[in-house]
Amino acid sequence: MSKTSSKSSGSSPKATPKPWEHAQGGVGSASDELAVRFVESLSYDRRLSKHDIAGSVAHARMLAKVGLISKDELGQIEKGLGAIRAEIERDGDAWAGWKLELEDVHMCIEAALIEKVGDAGRKLHTGRSRNDQVALDLKLWVHEAIGNLGPMFGKLFGAFVELAGRDGEIVMPSYTHLQRAQPIVVGGELIAWLEAFDRAWRRFGALWEVNKENPLGGGAAAGSGLPLDRGVTAESLPVGPPTGSSLDATASRDAALDMLYGLAMTAMTLSRWAEQWILYASWEFGFIKLDGRYTTGSSMMPQKQNPDMLELIRGRCGNVYGNLVALLTICKGLPIGYNRDLQEDKRQLFAAYDLVMDCLDMAGRIVATAKFQGERIAHGLERGFLDATSLAEYLVTRGVPFRTAHQVVGSLVHECQTRGVESLAKLPPEVFTTTCKAKGLDAKVIGPDMAQWLGAEQVVRRYQTLGNAGVEGYRREIKRWRERLAR
Ligand code: ARG
Repeated sequence: MSKTSSKSSGSSPKATPKPWEHAQGGVGSASDELAVRFVESLSYDRRLSKHDIAGSVAHARMLAKVGLISKDELGQIEKGLGAIRAEIERDGDAWAGWKLELEDVHMCIEAALIEKVGDAGRKLHTGRSRNDQVALDLKLWVHEAIGNLGPMFGKLFGAFVELAGRDGEIVMPSYTHLQRAQPIVVGGELIAWLEAFDRAWRRFGALWEVNKENPLGGGAAAGSGLPLDRGVTAESLPVGPPTGSSLDATASRDAALDMLYGLAMTAMTLSRWAEQWILYASWEFGFIKLDGRYTTGSSMMPQKQNPDMLELIRGRCGNVYGNLVALLTICKGLPIGYNRDLQEDKRQLFAAYDLVMDCLDMAGRIVATAKFQGERIAHGLERGFLDATSLAEYLVTRGVPFRTAHQVVGSLVHECQTRGVESLAKLPPEVFTTTCKAKGLDAKVIGPDMAQWLGAEQVVRRYQTLGNAGVEGYRREIKRWRERLAR
């Protein structure tokens, strides 16, 4: 959606008096040129038009049901709104009904309806205020946005699962403190990202459960003396039962805030993953090769292949945090009841959503085309004593208390380092027995099967705990993911 400037509305801002301004005899009231531009939200809330019309149709049907408008009037309203919807779909930003001086999407659509159907249109706003109207529109938008996030997450999940299918059993180091820790398989790490992104996705379902109540019928602040049936509107819309407080429903933006938090958590996860892969794509790691479609060159250094898309994913996370903190700050000083500050919610929400959707899309494409560099990873795999913990666990199976086993292996690692030996498996056998004896252990704790607990390739086949990042854990989880994605 392109931005609307004050000039884009065709007529001069002051030309159309606001249809709802009467208290001052129709003059004053934000008719100053700057005030017109200052107060408007049309430039960004017109993307709520579909939701606004859906809410209006539900409201009109309810008005007819309780006898506040006739069947015939309902028919006119529905027909008028249907035509307006089609016009907006056709004309987009160029729709003739967008008039900046009418402030927002709600007033533009209502004015267009009145122009089309006259008095029936004038009845639509019975018992309603823009305050409950916009609160509803926003929830309907959140509902749809969550629906749109689903396939985007789905593509990313699918890309990770396919990458696992290609490179999942390559053995690689895991890191803690960014220091080599224990050996894992590539698939084990991919499962880790799948879990993190899945949690990000499921958070949206949870936030909808908390926020789904229908605010429509709340009116401006206190409710209405007319016999509106809020249950009826709730039933015909993809929202929950009516909210219990009109004051709260029109004054709170928790749905937008929770959504922003969900988006911020998604952005944070994307950013962490991007950082990981930026490291892996470096010459120093050399673990991963990114597809050329998602890297860029340097204007000066001819050899460069930079992971700019990943860097932008990492960087744009900052914008989303900004959107969340902005809306939290906008809301923090607001007394109960609607305040115009709330209008700023949409700027933050839409910006964060658009950005996260783009980043998820990009992430899915990068994952789908990435390759782990098996040979390069294998090259230095026995560096860093990745099997040290495994050796300590071997000693535990031989009856050695873990703390003692930890000391023994610590000494053995030290021995490797002083002798310039690269890995535990390459230490002369007698060093194992003398080290055990030095710790007061029987040399028999070292059995002939010890060798099976050494070396990254063997260690990743030994893990048996639930959720392990070795071969067994990875295979179990990827099966579950494949089944899930097939559904
Ligand atoms: N454009 C406004 C918003 O986004 C709609 C509600 C206006 N309410 C009012 N009392 N002026 O919040």
